[in-house]
Amino acid sequence: MHSFAYCHGTLHCEGVNLDQLAAKEGTPLYVYSKRTILEHYARLKEALSPLDAEVEFAVKACSNIAILNLMAHQGSGFDIVSGGELFRVIQAGGNPHRCTYAGIGKTQQEIQFALEQGVYAFNAESEAELVAINAIAGQMGLIAPVSVRVNPNVEAGTHKYITTGKSENKFGIDFERIEPLYEWAFRELPNIRLKGLQMHIGSQLTKAAPFVEAVRKTAPLALHLKNKFNIEFFSIGGGIGIVYQNSLESASKSWWDQTPEQLTIKTYADSIVPLLQPLGLKIIVEPGRLIVGNAGALITRCLYEKQGKAKTFTIVDAGMNDLIRPALYQGYHQIIPIAEHPDRPNIVSDVVGPICESGDFMAQNRSLPQVHQGELLAVLSAGAYGFAMASNYNSRPLAAEILVDGNSWHVIRKRQTWNDLIAGESIP
Ligand code: LLP
Repeated sequence: MHSFAYCHGTLHCEGVNLDQLAAKEGTPLYVYSKRTILEHYARLKEALSPLDAEVEFAVKACSNIAILNLMAHQGSGFDIVSGGELFRVIQAGGNPHRCTYAGIGKTQQEIQFALEQGVYAFNAESEAELVAINAIAGQMGLIAPVSVRVNPNVEAGTHKYITTGKSENKFGIDFERIEPLYEWAFRELPNIRLKGLQMHIGSQLTKAAPFVEAVRKTAPLALHLKNKFNIEFFSIGGGIGIVYQNSLESASKSWWDQTPEQLTIKTYADSIVPLLQPLGLKIIVEPGRLIVGNAGALITRCLYEKQGKAKTFTIVDAGMNDLIRPALYQGYHQIIPIAEHPDRPNIVSDVVGPICESGDFMAQNRSLPQVHQGELLAVLSAGAYGFAMASNYNSRPLAAEILVDGNSWHVIRKRQTWNDLIAGESIP
């Protein structure tokens, strides 16, 4: 679900008129609905309630400290992948003891910081990393809590760049090598405590079957490790997909009555809870996109209309530096006008940004009600991996971010200025 809907002909986020908001705060502008974020978190918690489950929000999806603060207040833990993300969680008032630290390339400085802060566990992804964590913990006179990420070699059925659970991916350790690895670590690495087992097979999964296959394959291993090494948790990662196409239309339906082939919180939970319940382990899930994806939109203004020989272009002021998903993953985002004009004909155009690359588009060959210069569009379902992946490419300042709460809103990140662009640079 989400909280973007037309009211008297103008798109609103919750009770906030997006035309007025854009006039005040400028564009491009990221807007998030607090209500949607809270609702997604609550529904997931509820669906997993038969388990001893911990939800850890994947910070990488949307790392603004206001969003992290909101999640922390709901009782969420955090899936982090860098020292910077841990720093953000702490600044946001989150609890480092509720963080698990994943990623294949943790530096010595990051491991040290995470140990100082007392993270719940490191999700280690190689033997060499285990050795490094053991050594650093030893120097600090600490025992490091560790789980190992298992690569179950399961096809997630998503874009190849966000598939992570196949043997050819750089993530995790091959399924067959996990047990000998735990035996070795138990024997040889005295500054490590084997605390759990982790996996994550990919992102934007739209079917329950790959989750089921991965859990079916890995749950017996988790149980075995529990019996042998007394591990206390099994983390099944994130990856729950969201609706990108026609999300405005499906928002009016509840999560519970969408079409059966669509992955919903309910179908996800119904398919995995029975497999996980008998383990008697704490179960961690690490959703990012599910929580914030449909909660955010990117508001952009049409700068020019341009008729080419082969195509019509709608040139907008948001580029691939603001939202890279269409360029990088051929990601589809529904685009709708902020002002409804039911009388206007649809035209087919490429909605493109100002960046000097032909890969800079929000949509190609998209049928949309005609948009004229100066008018506003909303790029929907942009809350996850939108702003978080934004850059200053072409020396474009980062967009502002707004959190809407009912009829009120707050600037949770100021728009960058040109001075911000060169802060830290110097001429020798
Ligand atoms: N846990 C781990 C270990 C992960 O690597 C990820 C995402 C998550 C949890 C959260 O996954 P989610 O629930 O959000 O699917 N930039 C891409 C997505 C990259 C996902 C990276 N890992 C995109 O825009 O589609």
